[in-house]
Order: sequence, then C-alpha cells, then structure tokens
Amino acid sequence: MPVLRLRGIHKSYRLGAHEVPALRGVDLELQRGEMLALTGPSGGGKSTLLNIAGLIDRADAGYVELRGRALAALPEREATLIRRDAIGFVFQGFNLVPVMTVWDNVDYALLLAGVPAPQRRERVQAVLQAVGLAAHAQHRPDALSGGQRQRVAIARALVKRPTLVIADEPTASLDSDTADQVLALMREQAERAGAAFLLATHDERLLARCDRVLRLRDGRILPENAALQAA
Ligand SMILES: Nc1ncnc2c1ncn2[C@@H]1O[C@H](COP(=O)(O)OP(=O)(O)O)[C@@H](O)[C@H]1O
Ligand SMILES: [Mg+2]
Repeated sequence: MPVLRLRGIHKSYRLGAHEVPALRGVDLELQRGEMLALTGPSGGGKSTLLNIAGLIDRADAGYVELRGRALAALPEREATLIRRDAIGFVFQGFNLVPVMTVWDNVDYALLLAGVPAPQRRERVQAVLQAVGLAAHAQHRPDALSGGQRQRVAIARALVKRPTLVIADEPTASLDSDTADQVLALMREQAERAGAAFLLATHDERLLARCDRVLRLRDGRILPENAALQAA
C-alpha cells in the first residue's frame, strides 16, 4: 500500500473574476521509504500539490489517500489530527515560533501529540544532535543563521517520526556540508522509519539523491524522461 496516492487532482485559485488553474489532473503515488522530488518552473503547481498532499488545502476534484485511507470527505477535525501526528512539514519560510527556544520549537509538536516528557526529552535531544544544533538548543530562532533555522525546521518535522514529510525547497538556504548532513538525515529517516518524502526543489544536490524526480509544468506532470532531459 502506498503512503500517498493522488488521482486526477485539479485545483484552481479564484482571483477576482478570474480562475487561475494550478493543477490540471495530477496522478502520483509515493511508497514507504521513498524520496520523491517535484521540480519544474515557478508557477508549475509544486506548492499547490504539496499543500494538497499535506492536507493544508483541498483539491477541487480528485482523490487523495494516505496509507489506504481516503481523505476527501474527512471532517476538518480529523484532517487536523492527521496533519499534527502523521505529517511533517518543512516550509520555505521555516515557520518557527520566534518567542520559543530551538528546543521548545522542536518539542512543541511532540507535546501537542501527547508524547510523555521523558520520551520527548530523548527524541528532541537526538534530533538536535543529528542536525548539528545540540549546542543551540536554548537559543531563539532570531539568534540563528538561515541555514540553522532551516535545520530547526527539519528537526521539528522529523522528531514526530512522520509517515509523510512535505518539504518546499528544504535545502535552499543551506551550505553544501549542511545540506549533505540534512540529506543524510532524511535518507536515514526514510530507511529506518519508512517515512516517505515529497519535496519541491531546484537543488541539484537534492534532485540527484532522490529516488524519483517528477517535473511539473502548467499544472501537469511531464513524462519522466522529459524530466531527465530538462534536468
Ligand atoms: N493563493 C493563490 N492565489 C491565486 N493564485 C495562486 C495562489 N497560489 C498559487 N497560485 C497560482 O497557481 C499556480 C501554481 O502555483 P504554485 O503551486 O505556487 O507553483 P510553484 O510552487 O511550482 O511555483 C500559479 O499560476 C500561481 O500563480
Ligand atoms: Mg512553490
């Protein structure tokens, strides 16, 4: 059973009197342990697709299934629980809580999910170590560089041990060494915990390490060999 299955996804945005089509019939399957990258020109529909896969936004038409469970008719309350417990997000703008320390930003997801304190301590410590930020645990995000904030965002997504990780340009502000560390961490999580990664990226380092690359243009997925030619 795939972690994520999308069928015939359509989505338009309304801009005044205009309909802006963002996705025009997207099919996609993501398997356990798989790292799948979406690439392609700006405006192609990548972020829209990530938002739908992450249950942040709903499709106008089409079928969404997470671990065999159909999500279209799911009440918002249940979608919120799945988002909270089963999906990790890494956004371009990091979305860290500025008044919380690094530790608390990462811990917060586990607190919400009701994980007991001793386990939280262990898991937060381990993930901060893994992203190289153990020494910055008591700092606030505004005391960190862009790359460090990005690693906090990644730690926060991974600490939940999510089924699915959604990441929009996750390595955009990382130097090569840090990007390598972060990629290794994601790969380890994919292999050890069977997490599936759905990424939007232009980063060649990341594209080269994903299991599969799909190119989105004008709201459609291009055939896979077209993606290779364009890369
Ligand atoms: N909130 C929005 N309101 C109106 N149009 C939007 C909105 N978000 C995205 N779009 C439009 O939808 C299309 C796909 O955008 P997006 O999913 O952001 O693509 P990408 O992430 O590949 O750059 C573009 O034409 C974009 O202008
Ligand atoms: Mg985008």
